[in-house]
Amino acid sequence: MMPERTPSVVVIGGTYVDMAIRCRQIPSAGQSAVGSALSYTPTGPGPNQAAQAALCGCQVHLISKVGGDVFAQMARKSLADFDVNIEHLFTSPAKNTGIVVTLVDALGENAVCTYSGANSALVPQDIQAAEQVISEADVCLIHGALPQEAIVAAIRCAQVHGVKVILNPARPMGPARPQGELPAEYFLADILIPNLYEAADITDQEAANIHTAKLIGSELVARGVRAAVITMGKRGCMVVDRNGADHIPAFGVELVDQAGRGDAFAGALAAYYAVKNDVREAVKFASAAGALACTKFGSIEALPTKDEIIQLLQKEDIDLLPGGR
Ligand SMILES: Nc1ncnc2c1ncn2[C@@H]1O[C@H](COP(=O)(O)OP(=O)(O)OP(=O)(O)O)[C@@H](O)[C@H]1O
Ligand SMILES: [Mg+2]
Repeated sequence: MMPERTPSVVVIGGTYVDMAIRCRQIPSAGQSAVGSALSYTPTGPGPNQAAQAALCGCQVHLISKVGGDVFAQMARKSLADFDVNIEHLFTSPAKNTGIVVTLVDALGENAVCTYSGANSALVPQDIQAAEQVISEADVCLIHGALPQEAIVAAIRCAQVHGVKVILNPARPMGPARPQGELPAEYFLADILIPNLYEAADITDQEAANIHTAKLIGSELVARGVRAAVITMGKRGCMVVDRNGADHIPAFGVELVDQAGRGDAFAGALAAYYAVKNDVREAVKFASAAGALACTKFGSIEALPTKDEIIQLLQKEDIDLLPGGR
């Protein structure tokens, strides 16, 4: 048995509100459509990963930035409902909260436009203001689609305090998308968790696939990360560290909606790793969370609880029990 104590995770990731309208057909340029249903849902790697770690029994702080608008209130309310500490959810009053506008047609196909808003204003000073909570965490989980200087500051801060770092090196989209080499600090991460496309991007390959994942993982380890976990959707993931490379297959589930799978995976990985320093076990636990997130509509509302994750693992005869409440 693991010792009973509450593991602690700090999540640094973008906060968004998804404004989704259902319509019969997604209009193309110059057309208009009439909506039949509307929903507002807090989402983004920040809230989703923080909620997932909290659902796994961790004490969670989110470091992120919202605007001075009504959407910020929605995000705060949702995070509080998931028991996520928002003491360091900063506000940039002159900005808007990050927004995702989604149109969903009768067949369930999406058209999506994302506006990063206050997320692009997260600065190193914000990270410094949160140094105390970072220093007290077991794991600092960072999502890459944020200003690079803030990410670098977070990695440095965690390292100074001996806090483990898990980094998803996704890059911000749009015109501000940084080109070229990632900062050297990214390779100080304990675990780097790119998906196949991100892995190809970092290592300057045309495309990555299940066959090259091992090679890419080794390259990332050679560049300094303690472990590389390359996620490949329903093809599972490749874990590479100094002990070798292992393919961890995905769980077979009935696919309903893939939104949130990457965040469920990352949040659960951080929660497990906060308790036990075993990357392969943590990846199995996280894979169950990623798979379960695919079985329900939505992202934050589709995240599985720790009990649901453990049930799926037990169904496959995998006996993992992270500590915590
Ligand atoms: N269809 C699926 N069936 C079972 N497991 C899945 C499925 N999709 C994802 N997973 C699990 O979740 C993990 C992360 O998924 P994926 O590689 O798609 O991340 P991602 O591309 O970062 O996702 P996102 O677009 O949400 O950021 C996978 O390695 C796998 O374990
Ligand atoms: Mg992802």
